[in-house]
Amino acid sequence: MTAPCHHKITIYQIYPRSFYDSNNDGIGDLKGILQKLDYLHELGFETLWISPFFSSPQADFGYDISNYTDIAPEYGKMEDALQLIEEIHKRGMKIVFDMVMNHTSDQHAWFKESRSSRDNPKADWYLWRDPLPSLLRRGAGGEVPNNWKSMTGGSGWHYAEERDQYYWSSFLPMKPDLNYRNPEVKKAMLNIVRFWLGKGVDGFRLDIFNVIYKDAEFRDNPFAFQLAPTETNPSGFFQEAKYTLNQSESFTFAKELRAVCDEFGEKMLLGEISGDRETTRKFLGEETNDGLTHAFDFDMLTFKFTAEYFGDLIKKIEANYPDPFMPIYVFGNHDRRRSINRIGEDQQKAKLIHTLQMTVRGVPCIYYGEEIGMTNLKQSFAAALDPIPHKFKFIPPIFFDMIGLTINRDEVRTPMQWDGTRNAGFSFAEKTWLPVHENYREINVAAESEDENSLLNTICALAKIRQTEKSLQEGTLEILEGLPSGVLGYARKLGNEKIVILLNFEEKEKQFEFENAECILKLSPKDQTKNKAIYLGGFGGMILK
Ligand code: NOJ
Repeated sequence: MTAPCHHKITIYQIYPRSFYDSNNDGIGDLKGILQKLDYLHELGFETLWISPFFSSPQADFGYDISNYTDIAPEYGKMEDALQLIEEIHKRGMKIVFDMVMNHTSDQHAWFKESRSSRDNPKADWYLWRDPLPSLLRRGAGGEVPNNWKSMTGGSGWHYAEERDQYYWSSFLPMKPDLNYRNPEVKKAMLNIVRFWLGKGVDGFRLDIFNVIYKDAEFRDNPFAFQLAPTETNPSGFFQEAKYTLNQSESFTFAKELRAVCDEFGEKMLLGEISGDRETTRKFLGEETNDGLTHAFDFDMLTFKFTAEYFGDLIKKIEANYPDPFMPIYVFGNHDRRRSINRIGEDQQKAKLIHTLQMTVRGVPCIYYGEEIGMTNLKQSFAAALDPIPHKFKFIPPIFFDMIGLTINRDEVRTPMQWDGTRNAGFSFAEKTWLPVHENYREINVAAESEDENSLLNTICALAKIRQTEKSLQEGTLEILEGLPSGVLGYARKLGNEKIVILLNFEEKEKQFEFENAECILKLSPKDQTKNKAIYLGGFGGMILK
């Protein structure tokens, strides 16, 4: 059986604010994306996931939506969004919107109405609770309803005088959670999904999808000996997120959402889900892939650059996502440290991780600028536009550096570096919304296009190979044993077709006997095949056919 089309895709994430500014106000926009579609098409990624550009007060840069069926003026107009869908389709590409279903902005008309009184028509559209008497739980208007902590630390309950009640917010106070146990809420949100599917959108990336349902009885979460949440364990702040995440109703909702999408043909549902792999898998379905089509694997965002780490990772992922499931390999996004900063900003090493990402059994998803090796831009917490660092400004940033966490997400959202001209060719504005990284004169699309050994040209070559080699899109994966230490090898097979990938994760050159095959891509100029001998340069690698 051939794999569904959505399992063969390659995803490129665009953070619209930082991609390309067409009207020189210092902020990227939809017309800017339109102007860069040919670049993306040539790069060879066909599915574009665009972070939210709907109406929003931008308190969390679009992840706080105040109108789901309208466009924020700084990004453009409805006609631009429709043109974008059309132009993407003309090029044989696909477009995925970012759907934030768990919460709205506190400026959304639904919330304004809901908060205005206890008996308005939307009174029950959000999670409202009375203050609870307790000596230990003092909140602004009395006592918070239970011990739940938000995902960003501290109580997620916020007091509203109008109702003398607290509302629940999983993330930040200005983003109240909707009440999905109210059928009207679910209906309204599924109608928004239908609205965009009707306009031709090919699917959605689903923001914190595993948070949508909370415990119906609002039971206290148990204690856990864990300070910070990790990629695979979302508990934290000394609390197990037992009643706030991954509730069984959320698994069911994944299937309901899939059924709505199926009314429109083959659509993608890419889940942002925190939890161990088994939990993540439950969102995709038990035996058949009848829930979300995919879930991001976040474990690898904190990768270690060794052959053992990646060999183990692939084995675990293969065990958890057997056919008909397909994992997503993701090394960076708008919330996390840029992947190249984990490997000393070394472009040669970056070639290895992206070769792995583009050739394993899974959907590759890259974040804008990753293809040229854009790096984090260190910025102070005090001056941050991102609301998160302001919550943690009493902790010295060095603490987060030591544990490898990027708290100030401005650092990974700087303008795309197109060329060596002013503002890296992103905008002609006096001032861009975030500063451009000072390394833009060396690290930019124009310069790297000219260099045939650049990271950009390697990623482009990988994307082209993936487009033509069916075994890479839907073949099986087998890890090769008996290779020198530090070298990871695997074979992808489909019928009689076979592709072998060899990656040297060490600086030391490697030489070994291997079957005769044609080399179709080398990562280092020192990589060579001669008869049956393979030579891999330090951090070299090759694809054999
Ligand atoms: C995850 C998004 O990726 C992040 O940017 C946002 O702040 C939170 N969800 C809350 O919506």
